[in-house]
Amino acid sequence: MAPVTSLTASVNQRLAVALSATLPEAVVDPLLRRSDRADYQANGILALAKKAKANPRELAAQVLAKVESGDLLREIEVSGPGFLNITLTDKAITRNLAERYADPDRLGVALAEHPGTTVIDYAQPNVAKEMHVGHLRSAVIGDAVVQILEFTGENVVRRHHIGDWGTQFGMLIQYLDEHPHELDHQKSDDLQASGEEAMSNLDRLYKAARRLFDADEEFKTRARRRVVDLQAGDPATLAAWQKFVDESKIYFFSVFEKLDMEIRDPDIVGESGYNDMLAETCRLLEESGVAVRSEGALCVFFDDIKGPDGNPVPLIVQKSDGGYGYAATDLSAIRDRVFNLKSNTLLYVVDARQSLHFKMVFETARRAGWLNDDVKAQQLAFGTVLGKDGKPFKTREGETVRLVDLLDEAIDRATTVVREKAEKVGLTEEEIVENGRYVGIGAVKYADLSTSAVRDYKFDLDQMVSLNGDTSVYLQYAYARIQSILRKAGEAAAPVAHPELELAPAERALGLHLDQFGETLAEVAEAYEPHKLAAYLFKLATLLTTFYDQCPVLKADTPAQMENRLFLVDLTARTLHRGMALLGIRTPEKL
Ligand code: ARG
Repeated sequence: MAPVTSLTASVNQRLAVALSATLPEAVVDPLLRRSDRADYQANGILALAKKAKANPRELAAQVLAKVESGDLLREIEVSGPGFLNITLTDKAITRNLAERYADPDRLGVALAEHPGTTVIDYAQPNVAKEMHVGHLRSAVIGDAVVQILEFTGENVVRRHHIGDWGTQFGMLIQYLDEHPHELDHQKSDDLQASGEEAMSNLDRLYKAARRLFDADEEFKTRARRRVVDLQAGDPATLAAWQKFVDESKIYFFSVFEKLDMEIRDPDIVGESGYNDMLAETCRLLEESGVAVRSEGALCVFFDDIKGPDGNPVPLIVQKSDGGYGYAATDLSAIRDRVFNLKSNTLLYVVDARQSLHFKMVFETARRAGWLNDDVKAQQLAFGTVLGKDGKPFKTREGETVRLVDLLDEAIDRATTVVREKAEKVGLTEEEIVENGRYVGIGAVKYADLSTSAVRDYKFDLDQMVSLNGDTSVYLQYAYARIQSILRKAGEAAAPVAHPELELAPAERALGLHLDQFGETLAEVAEAYEPHKLAAYLFKLATLLTTFYDQCPVLKADTPAQMENRLFLVDLTARTLHRGMALLGIRTPEKL
């Protein structure tokens, strides 16, 4: 399907033609905005008049005289200090929307002109550890960005940089070696159950190993020796390490499944995946002079990064004992992503508290020539999840909240909400359970995605599953309500566009917003800002509510009007469905 030129783009183009016919040298953006007075207002003439030392109202009138109205524009007039108010014909609006409707997959939205390859690093929990709300944010934001970029035609490579390496594995492996049955459990087909069990075994083992490590000097020595064996690639030690990784993955996959999110095994390339590159990364940095030896460690220094004492804080790529850390791994991952995966954009969906690390890593990679003007890296930093009290989210005992507990509670609450209406809507028990999951998980995702990622947000389940306000369930109801109308219309009437009909104000407002879907997505993809998509969808649902108040659908005046309104709501439903899917949120047919 050919993409549909948006109404905004068409109006813009006509204005631009008229502008350059009036002042040939001028390159101006007409600065078109949606407006309450007309469909659009163009403000760009003001700046132009200033430059040309002309009277803005006169200039506006000259431009107006040159605008080709055709079938597109019904009215155009000068207003205020030199604005142009523009009203479209009803026919142009309905025709444009009908073209979108004819393309159910993409709704007429164009692919990006120059797609590239983006590697996105997200959903990166740590082996043998519980997942917490920070991991939730990375997964939810990352997954939305993946879906949105793929929709624009970008080639997206997903990387889950899990924490699967480090000295703590010496302790864990040694303990397992001395207590060989601690990770045994019954294999079950139920992913959720196995995931829970895997984690509770790992957690128990971790705590026991830690206790022994702190109390028993001899165990500590044996554990340290294990780290050396692990780094040297001793097969038995590696096999034990693999067991921890596999067990943890069972758990991760169960959480991602609960989150209704597809995470693929080959995309999990954890810290250990770069072990073979670490020595070379250090050699390249040292040979090029980007990194220097300082007190035995290999370091990179920055003019603008200093500690509280005023001394420079270096990025340590290799410790004085020869060990490699987080930074060496990330630098090696950059080389892999740039040179092997051939990406032009590297994204990192990681907690804002790691911003200094990424600033130093990116700057180092730039100095080494691995990143440059054509290959960019960016951290999509996210803020902290707060409790209702505005403090970082903790249990009453002061522990980090287990992600699974949180998700289960969200699903519980949502199921209650769904159940209240279930009888009226005619839901089976099975549908109640399924919708409860979609509403609960949707609520959690939407709350995360509807505020700008860098900001902290409060995890407030009452608010999240509320039917009123900017919540996913409000959007899900908007969608389900349309489906119910379409079912009621049934055989009697089908959605059909009627460009000859006059549009009511609420229909225009809805239609013009529907037309903006593609432009919104382009902006969202460009700046990696899913919250702007959430805002667009919320506005769409609000406009739909106003439309219902003012424009009866099943009781429309004429059959043609009913068909046209069915068409409008169906296009709205498709746009809601597509937009929500890009945010990773389901839209049940009945709710
Ligand atoms: N595993 C890390 C954590 O839980 C996040 C990894 C982020 N990605 C990266 N390439 N460093 O904090």
